[in-house]
Amino acid sequence: IVDIKGGESEGVDRLDQTLTVKGWVRTLRIQSSVTFIEVNDGSCLSNMQCVIDSDSEGYDLVESGSIATGASVCVHGVVVPSQGKKQKIELKVHKLVLVGKSDPSNPIQKKKVTREFLRSKAHLRARTNTFGAVARVRHALSYATHKFFQENGFVWIASPIITAADCEGAGEQFCVTTLIPSSKEASDSKASAIPKTENGLIDWSQDFFEKPAFLTVSGQLNAETYATALSDVYTFGPTFRAENSNTSRHLAEFWMIEPELAFADLNDDMACATAYLQYVVKYVLENCKEDMDFFNTWIEKGIIDRLSDVVEKSFVRLTYTDAVELLLKSKKKFEFPVKWGCDLQSEHERYITEEAFNGCPVIITDYPKDIKAFYMRLNDDGKTVAAMDLLVPRVGELIGGSQREERLDYLEIRLDELNLNKESFWWYLDLRRYGTVPHAGFGLGFERLVQFATGMDNIRDTIPFPRAPGSAEF
Ligand code: 4AD
Ligand code: MG
Repeated sequence: IVDIKGGESEGVDRLDQTLTVKGWVRTLRIQSSVTFIEVNDGSCLSNMQCVIDSDSEGYDLVESGSIATGASVCVHGVVVPSQGKKQKIELKVHKLVLVGKSDPSNPIQKKKVTREFLRSKAHLRARTNTFGAVARVRHALSYATHKFFQENGFVWIASPIITAADCEGAGEQFCVTTLIPSSKEASDSKASAIPKTENGLIDWSQDFFEKPAFLTVSGQLNAETYATALSDVYTFGPTFRAENSNTSRHLAEFWMIEPELAFADLNDDMACATAYLQYVVKYVLENCKEDMDFFNTWIEKGIIDRLSDVVEKSFVRLTYTDAVELLLKSKKKFEFPVKWGCDLQSEHERYITEEAFNGCPVIITDYPKDIKAFYMRLNDDGKTVAAMDLLVPRVGELIGGSQREERLDYLEIRLDELNLNKESFWWYLDLRRYGTVPHAGFGLGFERLVQFATGMDNIRDTIPFPRAPGSAEF
């Protein structure tokens, strides 16, 4: 349908052509002489209006009530001008074929339902306008991401999903267990020593990996190993966090884009983050017009103007110290009081970007070292690190990044200070031993980007199958 109706002419250039449309019935309007069937194939928001009367082959399907919302159909017909106001063309049906019937119990009907309800129907929600549009914009953002980095000479690196390292040191990892039937290993003497689960399975993972293994929280450390060989690289893959936060901005499984720049400092990092964000936002504004108009009308009024500003305006930059001062001076009552050294809460982040800077993205730099990860480069003041967080309205923190500590001695001191096991970072320290180089990178939470670009207010509605506390059915 996008091929037929998506161009400038909205399908008028197709008049008199014979076409076949395959898709799912959205609505059916039976009138005295003709029946209108709206068919959608997911390629765009627009439906193909198919007009069928008693002369068309397959009209009996309409009469017998077999064509209900959700049914899959194959419609052959000719393109004719439409009398309706909503479209320029429609399909005069020669032949209607019912491919798959839809039971009347289909929960996806024309009537409006809540997003909560649709979350409980994750297998069917892509058939609604909203979730179809979100899926297409998500796809476009992902394409634009690869395009941006590859056009700028970055090499895509696959970072592992299973790892023994905890990049963020926050202990929010999911543990990997390897359950195998105990009978299979009965002959192995080691197996008898491993406790069995209720259903006779044994957890083989410690033996398998020879140490506890986890789902990765970030691909950064792996990206660093390649950046210190190939120069600029990026990862784009799923990451996992076992934070039990039931918020509209956290998922247990989310995708992260993590560029890593060699021979680069925090300024280069911020410039890259800004250029990347502006590029992908511009890309969806230019390439997903119909879906963006839909979000602008139904999800967040004014989102197109808001995003156009992001593309055109430069982002605000301020240090953490200045941000704290700004918060202390504001008249706003915060739930969490602010003082130098505290982590900024989402209410603070939202105040800064939404109120203090009127909706402009804000990059906060130079955070206290005590609230940031071990790998960030210590500033000359000895108290702060070369970190940056990029905040945007509604979402808060979209990007977290830093210049990395490239000095071996400083890094070792930092690991000791945080009581992290230096031995387990032997490979990471090697990167500083052999040809170290100033480097910097960041991580962007892809679902938060989808939230930002579509106006969807709950992150669970930006990924096809959200993983969050209580949600992992299929
Ligand atoms: O700030 P974070 O924790 O930074 C890192 O993981 C670094 N290793 C990245 C790097 O420098 N390569 O996470 C980065 C971003 C956040 O800004 C946020 O957008 C997203 O990842 N994020 C989440 N998104 C959804 N659900 C969660 N639970 C998230 N946790 C972080
Ligand atoms: Mg962060």
